[in-house]
Amino acid sequence: DDFEGRGVWRYADALPLESGVTTQEGATPLYEVPRLEDDLGLEAVRIKHEGMNPTGSFKDRGMTVGVAVAKELGVDRLACASTGNTSAALAAYGSRGGMQTLVLLPAGKVAAGKVAQASLHGARILEVDGNFDACLDIVQELAAEGEAYLLNSLNPFRLEGQKTIGLEILEAFRDDYDAFPDRIVLPVGNAGNTAALYKAFRELLQAGAIDREDVPKLTGVQAAGAAPMVEAVENGADEVRRWDDVETRATAIRIGNPVNAPKALPGIRETGGTAIAVSDEEITEAQRDLAGEGVGVEPASAASVAGLRKLRAEGIVESDERVACLTTGHLLKDPDAAAAAGDDPEPVPATTEGVLEHLAGESRS
Ligand code: F0G
Repeated sequence: DDFEGRGVWRYADALPLESGVTTQEGATPLYEVPRLEDDLGLEAVRIKHEGMNPTGSFKDRGMTVGVAVAKELGVDRLACASTGNTSAALAAYGSRGGMQTLVLLPAGKVAAGKVAQASLHGARILEVDGNFDACLDIVQELAAEGEAYLLNSLNPFRLEGQKTIGLEILEAFRDDYDAFPDRIVLPVGNAGNTAALYKAFRELLQAGAIDREDVPKLTGVQAAGAAPMVEAVENGADEVRRWDDVETRATAIRIGNPVNAPKALPGIRETGGTAIAVSDEEITEAQRDLAGEGVGVEPASAASVAGLRKLRAEGIVESDERVACLTTGHLLKDPDAAAAAGDDPEPVPATTEGVLEHLAGESRS
């Protein structure tokens, strides 16, 4: 179709297939946020908004590749565990590819927009009485028993597609600043993006397209209530300890067992990056900061900006840095969180006079 050769598939040379099951994913905006940039006191801050993908998250970049591989293999049922976005993307790409989809979701912990997407795109939705990590344990066993083809980020073809986030960021910075970003800050759940970006950088190095000093510092951010990667980075550990009890308003990253940690931890270390935990309040503040510049993101996405603010305050990020923050999902994914973070509507009578009177009255805080 017309989209071939654009978005994710512009990078077909770096991917395992020539084309995929596509709904025109990738080629997302890299927004300027001048007020935030000023406020943080940084040379440059740009927001790579992955919420602008077809189903509203970066997962589409992985699914366009992963679902195409599944189709080539001739499997008939695709499955994933999900905090929501993966299930929405799998349902959409699976139906586009003409395959059945099965998704396992932690009951009561998935934002409304995501369940609605999985449902309308025709996934069979199983609500599991347990958290995401339990769902992933089960789906891995189903896959091992041949019941379904696994499309979580444990599937390496997903990560191949997600590499293109890094390629787009590097190209855009080169074009706009004649330099690569010093740092890429991203929210971490299963650490799939961290692993994918690191792989993209390694391949660019191997191809001689970039030099070692060009590689951005991979900087991961987790919610304080679900921060096993941060714990590992802080302790200099080689393995991540699974957290059994996790909680955060940023339900997309409510994950205690980051399955890509073995691929992601070396990425953080070898690029000179770090990892930091932020509170739910800090996440909501960052969501408001971005919204105040017209960029609508879901809570997990705002974690990147919250983490950047904290690292800047701690002096770990220096003022001369050019930074790209990844925002992974769209505001409308979690309308309840957005409404809670914003101001309440004000009831007024249905007359101009009544509206004028209301406006003349106490201004809102
Ligand atoms: N941000 C959002 C909005 C996500 O949905 C996810 C993961 C992440 C960040 C974490 O990314 O795993 O690459 O570190 N969501 C998965 C899901 C778990 O099921 O939708 P990661």
